[in-house]
Amino acid sequence: MEKLNHLFKKNLEWAAAIKKQDPDFFTELAGQQSPKILWIGCADSRVPANQIIDLPPGEVFVHRNIANVVVYTDLNCLSVIQYAVDVLKVEHVVVCGHYGCGGVKAAMSNDSYGLIDNWLRHIKDVIRFNKTQLDNAADIERFDLLCELNVKEQVSNVCNTSIVQQAWQRGAKLNVHGWIYDINNGILKDLDVSMADNVAL
Ligand code: CO
Repeated sequence: MEKLNHLFKKNLEWAAAIKKQDPDFFTELAGQQSPKILWIGCADSRVPANQIIDLPPGEVFVHRNIANVVVYTDLNCLSVIQYAVDVLKVEHVVVCGHYGCGGVKAAMSNDSYGLIDNWLRHIKDVIRFNKTQLDNAADIERFDLLCELNVKEQVSNVCNTSIVQQAWQRGAKLNVHGWIYDINNGILKDLDVSMADNVAL
């Protein structure tokens, strides 16, 4: 059996380095979290939320799944959104996709990958909703385009949840954004689909 001891060693070093820089960091954070951002991103190991926006622990509430999909029957995702919006009162929800997304690529093919095929149906829906635009795109652009269209669709899904609609109805300051991350250069791009109170920003 392998116990991954090297990770515990790295953890001790990491915690010590933070304490050296800010002795009260963990005790202050232990009292309460008050992140301003809910991040809904892909589970891909190359897209770690805090690292790519260079924010420390305590700043981002995170939900990740394959291909950053927001599904109305997914109690896990809905619970995260509800807790973030109603209890933590985050001011921003960011749906962040990424180019080169394996989930999106799998959804573009007719291959079978097992149970996950059912999850990828949601991205096949995005393909169906945007068929003309995707058909008209050059072959080389289609994958990137679908990664972007998937983010836009999920932003719309976040906005249309009863949670976000009710937050806007009670006048909560809540912005929903769609971003995409380029795994080739580490750069984030705003897809300019931000919404606040059912109005585009
Ligand atoms: Co992905």
